[in-house]
Amino acid sequence: CCIVGYIGTQPAVARLLHGLRELEYRGYDSAGVAVLQPEGLRCFKAVGKLDNLAAKLGDFESSGPVTAIGHTRWATHVKPTEANAHPHGLTHSQVVHNGIIENYVALREAVETPFLSQTDSEVIVHLFERHLATWAAQAEPALDQRAETPSSAADPAAGATGDPTVDLTLAAFRATLDALHGAYAILLVSETAPGRIFFARKGSPLQLGFAEDGCHFASSDAPLVGGCSQTLYLDDGHWGVATAEGLTLFAADGSPAELAPKPLPASSLAARKEGYRYFMEKEIYEQPRVLADILTGRLGEQAVRLDELEADWLRPISSVTLCACGTSYHAALTGSYLLERLARVPARVEIASEFRYREPVLDPNGLFVVISQSGETADTLEAIKLAKAQGLATLALCNVDNSSIVREAERTLLLRAGIEKGVASTKAFSAQVLTLWLLALYWGQARAVLSGERHARELTALRAVLNVMQVQPRVHERLHRLSKRYLHGHGFFFIGRDLFYPLALEGALKLKEISYLHAEGDPAGEMKHDPIALADAELFTIALMARSTFYEKVKSNVEELSARDATLIAITTEDFELADDIIQIRPYDHPMLEFFEMLVVVQLLAMEIAIRLGNDVDMPRNLAKSVTVE
Ligand code: G6P
Repeated sequence: CCIVGYIGTQPAVARLLHGLRELEYRGYDSAGVAVLQPEGLRCFKAVGKLDNLAAKLGDFESSGPVTAIGHTRWATHVKPTEANAHPHGLTHSQVVHNGIIENYVALREAVETPFLSQTDSEVIVHLFERHLATWAAQAEPALDQRAETPSSAADPAAGATGDPTVDLTLAAFRATLDALHGAYAILLVSETAPGRIFFARKGSPLQLGFAEDGCHFASSDAPLVGGCSQTLYLDDGHWGVATAEGLTLFAADGSPAELAPKPLPASSLAARKEGYRYFMEKEIYEQPRVLADILTGRLGEQAVRLDELEADWLRPISSVTLCACGTSYHAALTGSYLLERLARVPARVEIASEFRYREPVLDPNGLFVVISQSGETADTLEAIKLAKAQGLATLALCNVDNSSIVREAERTLLLRAGIEKGVASTKAFSAQVLTLWLLALYWGQARAVLSGERHARELTALRAVLNVMQVQPRVHERLHRLSKRYLHGHGFFFIGRDLFYPLALEGALKLKEISYLHAEGDPAGEMKHDPIALADAELFTIALMARSTFYEKVKSNVEELSARDATLIAITTEDFELADDIIQIRPYDHPMLEFFEMLVVVQLLAMEIAIRLGNDVDMPRNLAKSVTVE
C-alpha cells in the first residue's frame, strides 16, 4: 500500500495522482483520494488501476487552499472493493492507513458506530471522531471564547499549536493512536482543522517534505523527488500535525521531537522503459551495468575490498544467519553456500515470517544478515529488530538507502541496483547474489581460510561476471520461440543441485508470479522422494544442468524423470539426447558464472511465457512490490 498527502494552494488531485503513479509499480488493487477545501470534504475511490480513479474524478480539481490525502491499497485480509478502498471517512474526517490494526475487532465493538467497510483501518476514523465529539461537547464554551485548550496539562497536545481547536483535534488524534495495537502509517484530515494533516508512523514508512507549493507526504522517496529538495523520514513512534509551512512533531512518549532533513535527488527517480516492452525486460538487460556498479572500487588485483565493513568487525563473528522473504530469501540461500565455502563460517537461512515466531536460539557472537530489495518488508524488519534485541551484530543488504531496514541495521551494504520497478525482482536478485559473493570472499580473506589458488580463481570469475550477464540475442530469441510450447500443461519442475537448487527455486518463483502457472523448485536429488509421482508428459521439467557442479548426478536425476515420460527442457552446455528441448548456454569452469548465465535464462523464460499468456508482467495480479504488512 502507498500513501500520499498534500497541503497547499495548488491543484491537489493532480499532485496526489502523480505521487501515486510514481509508486504504482509496487502493486495495488484499489485507490482513493480525499480532498478538504473550504466548501467541504470530498472523497473518491475506485477498484483497479489509477486510471479508474482518474475517470471517477473526471474534471474535479481543487482550487485555493486544500488539504488532501491519497492511497493505493493492496488487499491483505478483506476484498479489494470500493468500500474497502481508502480513504475511510465518517462525518467530517477522512483517514488513510498502511499496516495492520491488530485489535480492530475489539475496537470496532467498542465504538458502536456502523461501519461502511470490512477493513481494520476504518476503526481509526471512528475512534477519532468519537474522542473529538466527546471532548468538543465538553469544551464548547471554552472554544467559543478562544480560551485555554480543554486538554489536560499532561497531554502533549495541550497548547501545542496555539490554536485551541487544532489542539483539541490533535488530542483526539493522540488518544486514537493510544488505542491502536499493530503497525501503521496514518494520515488524517478533519474539517475541524482545515489546512492540517495529522500523521503518525509506527512500523510502516512515512516521510514528508516542504516545497514552495506546500507540504507533501509520502510512504517513500519517489513521489517527493522533483518537488522537494529535502525530506524528513519519520521515526517509529513519531506523530503530530503539519501545515503547509511547518510541523509539530512528537515522539511516542509525547515529548517534542526533531528531525534533521535529508537531501533528495533533484530529478525524478521514475525509471523509463527506454524502448523495452516491460520494466522487467529492461531490468534483465540492465544487469551487467548493475553488476559493474557493485564491483566498482571493490575488486582489486589481489583482493576484494568492502569499505563498509572492517575485517576486525567480521573476525570475531562465529556464525551467520541470513534472513529474508521471497526472492531475497533465495539470494540468502545462495549466500549460505558461498559463505560456508569461501569464508568457512557456519551459515543458516531463515524465512523472516517464520523466524520471528519460533523462539530461535541465536549465537550471541553471530552476525544476522537481512536481505531486502525494498528495505520495508515488515517480517524482515521485525526479524532484524529481534536479532538486535538479542545482541547480535546486524548487517543489511538493501537496495534503498534510508529505508526502515537500513536504519535499523548496524552496518549496510547497499545493493546499487537502482530503482527496480518490475514487481518480479530481477536485477535486485543478481545484485544481492553478487554482493553476497563479495562478502563471502572478503570474509574468507579476513579469516585467511582460502588457498592462494582458490582465491585467485574467485577473483578471475568475478572479473568475468559482467560479460556472462549480457543477454545474448540468440538465447533471447530461442526462449521467445520456445515459450509457445509451454503455455499449457499442469505444472513445471525446476530442478538443480547445490547452488542451482536456490536458482531452481527462484526460476519457479519467477514463472509463478508472472505467468500464474504452477511451478515448484526442487533439489534434483529429492525428486525420487515424492515429486516424481507427478511426472508425466504434461509436466515440464526445467533441468539446471551445470557442467561445473555435479553434472552426472543431476543427469541421472533427469533420466529418472525421463523414464516417467516427463517433458524435459535442459539448460546446459552439453548435448543431452533425452531432452525435448535444450537451451544451450556457454561453458564456464566456475559455478557462479554458470549460475549467472542460467539466471538470465530462467528470467527471460518466465517473462516470455507470461507475455505470450497476455499478462502484465510488471504488475502481476495479487502481488505487491513492497509488503509492509506481516
Ligand atoms: C514481495 C515481492 C517479492 C520480494 C519480496 C521481498 O513479495 O513481490 O518480489 O522478493 O516481497 O521483498 P524485499 O523488498 O524484502 O526484498
